[in-house]
Amino acid sequence: MTEPFTPADHLAQVLAAYDDSPDPRLAEITRAAITHLHAFVVDVGLTREEWFAGIEALTRTGQMCDDERQEFVLMSDTLGVSMLVEMINHAAAPGSTEPTVFGPFHVDGAPHRGMGESVVLDPIEADEQVVFRGAVTSLDGTPLAGATLDVWSTASNGCYDVQDDDQTPMNMRGIFTTGDDGRYEIVSVRPVAYPIPGDGPAGQLLFDNGRHNWRPGHMHFVVAAPGHKRVITHLFDAASDYLDSDAVFGVRESLIADMSDGVCQYDFVLQPE
Ligand code: BEZ
Ligand code: FE
Repeated sequence: MTEPFTPADHLAQVLAAYDDSPDPRLAEITRAAITHLHAFVVDVGLTREEWFAGIEALTRTGQMCDDERQEFVLMSDTLGVSMLVEMINHAAAPGSTEPTVFGPFHVDGAPHRGMGESVVLDPIEADEQVVFRGAVTSLDGTPLAGATLDVWSTASNGCYDVQDDDQTPMNMRGIFTTGDDGRYEIVSVRPVAYPIPGDGPAGQLLFDNGRHNWRPGHMHFVVAAPGHKRVITHLFDAASDYLDSDAVFGVRESLIADMSDGVCQYDFVLQPE
């Protein structure tokens, strides 16, 4: 071994230890992660105290996770990584509906609802009705009959049913199916801006960096049709606060829609497989 042994020598030695990995993809990911982590430590001149604070934050992140709370996903969302994974894996073909983050509040098994049915099981005073309507089409404009739209949103109090004991399970959720003409209609309420959970390490990191934990008002959609790529997306209320500072970086211009007169008209365009 030659002296002085530098951080670059150390990195080379660590990488070499992973040379015989039997799984080429795992090896690629592991080597890249090591290389970026070492560069990060060198770049910021990480102190031992800062390293330990990071370890403690990751420990608390794991300790907060259970069946209902995924603090690592929240951390990924607020660092912009979740949106980046969507961008590189599900880039929308020109003309097709753009994807955005899935988020942690989808629930499997939402009830199938009829055309024009309401998702509001527990009306509250703050509700302002919005009818979402439009078509689901293929990229060439062909209407897609029998496409499904799995939708969910908070109630007008800013809470999802799973966060709020006062809501009936499946409030503000439903799976809708397009008719023969490819059209859908969903009755809901005007989405409100709401804060994502801020009581864990992800929130701490936001607040310590002078950021807020709010998302602009939106309705979640998963739109699917046979022979087409499913799109996970939202529609954002054009009049909402936080469109330019979404805590999870999910806003795209093409997903902002006018909801001001009680109707949100939006056509979803799916890419063929
Ligand atoms: C949501 O829109 O439901 C959401 C997305 C990312 C983090 C938290 C909530
Ligand atoms: Fe949401």
